[in-house]
Amino acid sequence: MTTAQLDARAGEPLLEVDDLRTFFDTPRGVVKAVDGVSLRVDRGRTLGIVGESGSGKTVLSRSIMNLLPKNNTIREGSVRFEGRELTTMKNKEMRRIWGAEMAMVLQDPMTSLNPVTRIGDQITESLGIHLDEKGKVAKAHAVELLRSVGIPAAERRLGEYPHQLSGGMRQRVTIAIALACGPKLLVADEPTTALDVTVQRQILDLLAQQQAERNMGMIIITHDLGVVAGRADEIAVMYAGRIVERAPTRELFARYRMPYTEGLLRSIPRLHQPSHTRLAAIPGRPPDLVDPPAGCAFAPRCNYAQERCLTETPPLAPHAPGHEAACHFPVGTAAGKEALERNLAAGRTAAGTPLDAAAIAAAGAA
Ligand SMILES: Nc1ncnc2c1ncn2[C@@H]1O[C@H](COP(=O)(O)OP(=O)(O)OP(=O)(O)O)[C@@H](O)[C@H]1O
Ligand code: SF4
Ligand SMILES: [Mg+2]
Repeated sequence: MTTAQLDARAGEPLLEVDDLRTFFDTPRGVVKAVDGVSLRVDRGRTLGIVGESGSGKTVLSRSIMNLLPKNNTIREGSVRFEGRELTTMKNKEMRRIWGAEMAMVLQDPMTSLNPVTRIGDQITESLGIHLDEKGKVAKAHAVELLRSVGIPAAERRLGEYPHQLSGGMRQRVTIAIALACGPKLLVADEPTTALDVTVQRQILDLLAQQQAERNMGMIIITHDLGVVAGRADEIAVMYAGRIVERAPTRELFARYRMPYTEGLLRSIPRLHQPSHTRLAAIPGRPPDLVDPPAGCAFAPRCNYAQERCLTETPPLAPHAPGHEAACHFPVGTAAGKEALERNLAAGRTAAGTPLDAAAIAAAGAA
């Protein structure tokens, strides 16, 4: 590659996703798991993707990485990685990118680790495939990687099997494997959900440290806004296959506009709360993605919803630099305040009571 080409590449985003749609053709109908998502990740930056279970986070990340089964998947839109279009790339070419340029860390380390292969062999295998390292060189590199992810007695650990390690240690091993070939982008899908709170923090600190040292782009996927608070540069909130709010992290916490984001913020587990404390969960459930409601998909659960929300899908609209939200009656605006007050006055916003379409339509007619 020429210097001019390298200069051009340095200026372009690491990852640029444009209007990505990923649908599954199933006997029940078409599941619209990702429905028009655009995002961008730059080198050295972390994007947090947050949403409840079933909002499409994993499908989005796998769709970006070309890791979905082809048979029943319909995919449209564009995914450019350092300017290269991935949606049309053949598996042979993708294999050069997986592991070496883009890597993943999953929720359960046992699904990424082979239970019957020694840890050392699992790391050196990856080093052999992508970096052509073998024998002593690969072993020394494996020890260095285990040390860099905070595994004590690294040399001894090489000879152990995954079940001989704690959950936190296993996750450190999967991170070491993901980092082995120096990827430019690391996608961590619920990397700490299976771990207890203290270990969670250690793993998140480790990911942040590695990301900064290597100037990687990183995507952290989580259902818990608390996980990405203070760790992501930007947060994208997903609901029913779409990004419904995005903003730089501080801005999102200080001035969120989507009622859904407000609900997620209220659901953040707090460390000082006793374990039996009930969290203020968002009432109701996310919609069925085969037949999502017309208008705003969050309307049946939203304390701000008005009649308009049932028919008009709100587009992502700008609120501040880098801050967009898809809502007709945004939190913290006069329109939002009025909508909430109207619902309160009509007794439709008791916590835990989902608003139903008929009630809102009736209120609109009143
Ligand atoms: N291969 C598939 N075929 C059909 N539907 C699928 C397939 N994979 C995922 N889905 C559906 O796509 C939707 C989004 O799933 P996804 O796993 O991305 O959610 P998620 O946000 O990652 O949830 P969680 O927090 O539980 O991991 C769900 O309704 C799921 O059932
Ligand atoms: S106010 Fe309307 S548009 Fe905004 S989140 Fe609620 S239902 Fe959706
Ligand atoms: Mg998931």
